[in-house]
Amino acid sequence: MDLTNYEKEMLEGKHGIAVKKAMYILVALGNIFGAKKMVEVSSVQIAGVSYDNLGEAGLDYLSSIAEEGGKARVLTTLNPAGMDLENWKNLGISKEFAEKQKRVIEAFQKMGVITTCTCTPYFIGNNPHYGEHVAWSESSAVAYGNSVLGLKTNREGGPSALASALTGRTPLYGLHLDENRNAKITIKVNAEMNEITDFGALGYAIGKKIGKEIPLIKGIEKAGVEELKSFSASIATYGGQGLYHIEEITPNKTNEPKEVKEISQQEIDEAKKFLNDDSEVDLISVGCPHCSLKEIQELAELLKGKKVKKEFWICVARPIKSIADSMGYTKIIEESGAKFACDTCMAVAPLKGRFKCLATNSAKAIFYGRGKNQFKTIFKPLNELIELAVRE
Ligand code: F3S
Repeated sequence: MDLTNYEKEMLEGKHGIAVKKAMYILVALGNIFGAKKMVEVSSVQIAGVSYDNLGEAGLDYLSSIAEEGGKARVLTTLNPAGMDLENWKNLGISKEFAEKQKRVIEAFQKMGVITTCTCTPYFIGNNPHYGEHVAWSESSAVAYGNSVLGLKTNREGGPSALASALTGRTPLYGLHLDENRNAKITIKVNAEMNEITDFGALGYAIGKKIGKEIPLIKGIEKAGVEELKSFSASIATYGGQGLYHIEEITPNKTNEPKEVKEISQQEIDEAKKFLNDDSEVDLISVGCPHCSLKEIQELAELLKGKKVKKEFWICVARPIKSIADSMGYTKIIEESGAKFACDTCMAVAPLKGRFKCLATNSAKAIFYGRGKNQFKTIFKPLNELIELAVRE
């Protein structure tokens, strides 16, 4: 790779051992993918934060980088941790797990990383401008960042994102290059797209149909932040896409591929059927990806004066919850018995064996509920989830 003098110095260890190791990872990655040089990044988002996924080896690795003086050079935030960092007892997390998780967060803190743990960094101030190169790792945020915000990022692993934080660089390949950002296939949607669950089912159907190809999607008249957030999570989960285009809705330019495929109403209905099992719900969770303020407002309206009869988690970034506190939404929601799960989510918290059936409005949450936790799943819009929650 063609490195600048400063990048060579980083690789030679002139800026400390942690930076040397980080640059070594990035150069190795660049060589594997044929990158000719590095590009500077303005923002980093690091996944691999939950102790449930990291284990002791991951914790040791992070602690050693912190001890060696690694410091974030650009705005860096974290993906969800394995627990609510303040309110973990209320969510049934053990003291042993909490102690380990806190040590993970301390290591990141020592490195100057902003320890707000969320998969929606764009809601909490890690929100770079159109066209900027960044190094993000959460798959839903990568798809949202590339497609909706017009950022340029590959889907980074935890170690490569951390390496970018410590050096301010990433290898220039993949979705950082304009020539790799064109659509390869046109998808015509001939189905009703109203609820968030419609967009989750659409992500599933497109992902299954075209795999990792970048689609230009036509036929969607309207999609707001919440719909695009849900769609990004779903298409990234079921197809592996890091970028999509929706005609008249997303901002990136693309050519129009000649190959055309259709998504019919029947395929959307079949996707929903696949995501629903027939089972007794004992956990309801919303906020995958983490809730927007608008979703919290809607939850407060729907839960006002009601009592939930099942464990009910609302996954959200802590700064969004703080606004909900000041607006009185938190009080209304907590009076219903529903619980806020800040900094975490039902996929990265250690929930295996605690519940049997998860109900959610997120197609991505279904994937992890089934795969990681072996839950049965129910996939319904928000208002129907509330009906389920208040039923005996
Ligand atoms: Fe976020 Fe967890 Fe879903 S990290 S995208 S809430 S699986």
